[in-house]
Amino acid sequence: MKTPVHIAVTGAAGNISYSLLFRLAAGELLGPNQPIVLHLLEITPALGALQGVVMELNDCAYPLLHGIEVTDDPYVAFKAVEHAFLVGARPRSAGMERKDLLTVNAEIFSVQGKALNAAASRNVKVLVTGNPANTNALIALKNAPDLSAANFSAMTRLDHNRALSLLAEKCGVLVEKVNNVVIWGNHSNTQYPDLHHAAVNGKPALELVDNGWFVNDFIPRVQQRGSEVIKARGQSSAASAARAAVDQMKTWTFGTQPGTWVSMGILSDGNPYGIQPGLMYSFPVTVDSGKVNIVNGLPINEFSRKKMQLTEAELIEEKDVIKHLLAV
Ligand code: NAD
Ligand code: LMR
Repeated sequence: MKTPVHIAVTGAAGNISYSLLFRLAAGELLGPNQPIVLHLLEITPALGALQGVVMELNDCAYPLLHGIEVTDDPYVAFKAVEHAFLVGARPRSAGMERKDLLTVNAEIFSVQGKALNAAASRNVKVLVTGNPANTNALIALKNAPDLSAANFSAMTRLDHNRALSLLAEKCGVLVEKVNNVVIWGNHSNTQYPDLHHAAVNGKPALELVDNGWFVNDFIPRVQQRGSEVIKARGQSSAASAARAAVDQMKTWTFGTQPGTWVSMGILSDGNPYGIQPGLMYSFPVTVDSGKVNIVNGLPINEFSRKKMQLTEAELIEEKDVIKHLLAV
């Protein structure tokens, strides 16, 4: 039997975790032959509720789940972990934008960045889901100077999956026939879901759908899907977010399929699309042996350039709001 891999999940008593933890314990991330130990972090008042989740995990009798550690101390939670899902943060409610959460949640990621810096494996993959995910990921990264920027990513895979699904539905094909959509920028309503490079059954997507649908329907729908879910459910997406978190971490760990890419929020330093360095910006990426590479050389027209710059401007504004948390 292989040595267990240690995986941290923050906000472990929350909605997303209620789906995520069971996927991880079932082997959805690392496969059916890799045991894991879960490190579950919560704030002190939520530890009681977390005990209930732990009971349920135990009651599932997962053969791959070799241990569960429960704590309210991030230094304990992150000790020697190879994967860290930073989910714990307040979600928005109807009428709020994700950036309204910035001041409420930012401090969490400065504390957790420091704890990751001190305690996690030097190869840790830190995936930030808690909103606003891109800027929170930047805070965590900047508070972990002994880790590399390559240890951090922000979750835009849910937006990517939403784009795949909407395009597949429009074209009347299975989702597996669609690839190479791109989510540029921020996980917010300024994000730019781009179909200029997407293919459906190997054909350019924009030859199959009309431009009016792309501009007036598809783009705003993906941008506002989170709000649409909140309006319908009364709370923010949870199962789809958990699925996207596993997807993003899995791609990061095992790589992309040849000829395809995914979208991932990563540090913009050295990017080939003229985006300001020092931002966690979502790009199309390939992953090989754990190394994330921005897809280079995609032609960018005037329409796309403007949308990419708009979401960049929002990330610059968000960064300005929390700049006091970036200097370690
Ligand atoms: P939730 O309120 O159900 O759960 C959040 C949990 O985090 C709570 O149990 C809370 O006690 C815990 N928590 C708060 N502060 C903490 C801290 N310092 N350390 C550890 N745990 C802490 O919320 P949820 O629905 O699970 O969503 C979590 C976050 O994910 C929200 O910010 C939400 O907006 C975000 N989200 C992001 C995406 C994305 O695509 N990036 C998708 C969905 C949700
Ligand atoms: C989402 O995209 O569903 C999440 O970020 C939750 C939200 O606030 O929209």
